[in-house]
Amino acid sequence: MTDHLTGRVALLTGASGGIGRALGRLLIAAGVRTAFAYGGQAEQAERLVTEAKDAGVDAIALPGDLADPEVPARLVRRTAEALGPVDVLIPNAGIAIQLGYTDVDLDVWDRTMAINLRAPFLLARETVPGMAERGFGRVLFMSSIAAFTGGIVGPHYASSKAGLHGLVHFLASRVAGQGVTVNALAPALIEDTGMFPTIPAGVRPVPVGRFGRPEEVADLAMAILRNGYLTNQTITLDGGAHPR
Ligand SMILES: NC(=O)c1ccc[n+]([C@@H]2O[C@H](COP(=O)([O-])OP(=O)(O)OC[C@H]3O[C@@H](n4cnc5c(N)ncnc54)[C@H](OP(=O)(O)O)[C@@H]3O)[C@@H](O)[C@H]2O)c1
Repeated sequence: MTDHLTGRVALLTGASGGIGRALGRLLIAAGVRTAFAYGGQAEQAERLVTEAKDAGVDAIALPGDLADPEVPARLVRRTAEALGPVDVLIPNAGIAIQLGYTDVDLDVWDRTMAINLRAPFLLARETVPGMAERGFGRVLFMSSIAAFTGGIVGPHYASSKAGLHGLVHFLASRVAGQGVTVNALAPALIEDTGMFPTIPAGVRPVPVGRFGRPEEVADLAMAILRNGYLTNQTITLDGGAHPR
């Protein structure tokens, strides 16, 4: 069966992180020509580029601090210059500063919103109109179970992820008839990532009895990206943690 992702151009942010690296590898395996965007860990993103080139797939690594409102448009422009217009957008970069709610100051609130919510919106604003014009597109925001439950990181993090769900519903309904799907994937407690949280005493363990793997998030992300009939959804991947 022909994979309609093969040969498409993707922009994946947070490609240097635990989930991003796992998803990057599956994009390469699917023949998706990908811009791997990163914050500070250049070597991780460059390693994906090498793996892509070894597999005969075009790829680039792009640095940029997503707290800067100029960066999303620059990432989109540089992807288009190197690989072509973005068909598949995966705003996956995020920060999770774990704090009690009375300790969340303006800096933490604003920085979290800038990286976790504003940057994904700006990336979508730059790419979704072109996807709709060309009649194909995929947007997959990386949310969190915290958007449903409040979670254990803090109110800033939960709110930033819940905001992504508003973006899903707003955008999906506008472009559903033009071949563009817009969804969010909301994992919980994924090990081997840079943001695995400290689990407070008294928080019940995951029902399946273990934490999730980045590869499991990546696997479901690819299924969502492949499916043209799935849109306007926020899908949880949490070992049965919610609802319970
Ligand atoms: N791990 C979990 O348990 C879990 C659960 C639910 C949701 N999520 C979500 O999954 C996504 C991926 O996180 P992860 O688990 O893979 O964690 P991670 O290993 O800490 O990766 C975070 C990624 O975001 C990038 N990033 C952070 N701040 C940035 C900035 N200012 N500008 C550009 N890039 C920035 C990092 O880039 P550099 O390292 O290069 O700076 C890194 O690639 C996040 O949106 C997170 O909220 C994770």
